[in-house]
Amino acid sequence: MMKKILTLLAVAALFGCAGPAPAPKADIVMENILSRKSVRSYTDQKLTEEQINTLLRAAMAAPSGSNIQPWSFVVLTDASEYDAIFPGNFNLDKFKQAAAVFVLCADTTVTRTPRGGGEPVVRPNGTWRDDMGAVTENLLLAAESLGLGAVWTASYPYKDRYLPPKQALGLPDTVIPYSIVPVGYPAGDEQPKDKWDPARVHYGRW
Ligand SMILES: Cc1cc2nc3c(=O)[nH]c(=O)nc-3n(C[C@H](O)[C@H](O)[C@H](O)COP(=O)(O)O)c2cc1C
Repeated sequence: MMKKILTLLAVAALFGCAGPAPAPKADIVMENILSRKSVRSYTDQKLTEEQINTLLRAAMAAPSGSNIQPWSFVVLTDASEYDAIFPGNFNLDKFKQAAAVFVLCADTTVTRTPRGGGEPVVRPNGTWRDDMGAVTENLLLAAESLGLGAVWTASYPYKDRYLPPKQALGLPDTVIPYSIVPVGYPAGDEQPKDKWDPARVHYGRW
C-alpha cells in the first residue's frame, strides 16, 4: 500500500500535479512591474513590522552610482503628527489615510578619505537623484508584490514640500527628503495603465 502511495506521489510530481508549478522568474518580475499602479486611498488596516522591513529591504537593494547608497528612511505611522511635518503638502490626505508613510531621504554629499590618507573630503554626490528614483521605484514594486497600494509623491525639488519635513524630522544638513511614499491596503480598485507605445522606440537611430 505504502509503495503504491509513494509511486502515485512520484508520478504526480513528475507531471506537475503536486501543486501549481512555480512561474518562471521573468514572468513573476514582469507581472510585478506591469501590475504596479499608483494607489491613493487606503483602508484602516495596519502594516506588520515584517511588511515594513520587506519594503525597506527592497528599497535598499536599488542600484546607485559608485554604490554610494545615499539613502536613509524615516518611517512614520502616527497620522496625528502629519499636519506639523507636512504643512501645506497637497498629498496630506493620502498620508493621513496610509498605514505608513516612508520618507525617502538622500545625502547629497559623499565623504571620501583621500587615497594617500589625511582628512576626509566632503563633495557633492553627482548621482543622488538618479539613485533615489531607483529606490523609490523598488519600494513601489515591493508594495505591489505584497498586495499593498502606494504612490510616489514628489518632495524634492519643491522647497515648500521638502524643507518642512527636513526640519520637523531633524534631518542632517546635507540630507534631503527626496520622495514621500504613503503605503496601505488599497481601498479602491485601481488598475495599472498600459503604457506600451512602440512609437517611442527607435532602432539604430532616431
Ligand atoms: C517624480 C514623481 C512625482 C510624483 N508626485 C506625485 C504626487 O505628488 N502626488 C500624486 O498623487 N502622485 C504623484 N506621482 C504619481 C504619478 O502621478 C503617477 O505615477 C502617474 O500618473 C502614472 O500613474 P501610475 O503610477 O499608476 O502608472 C508622482 C510620480 C513621480 C514619478
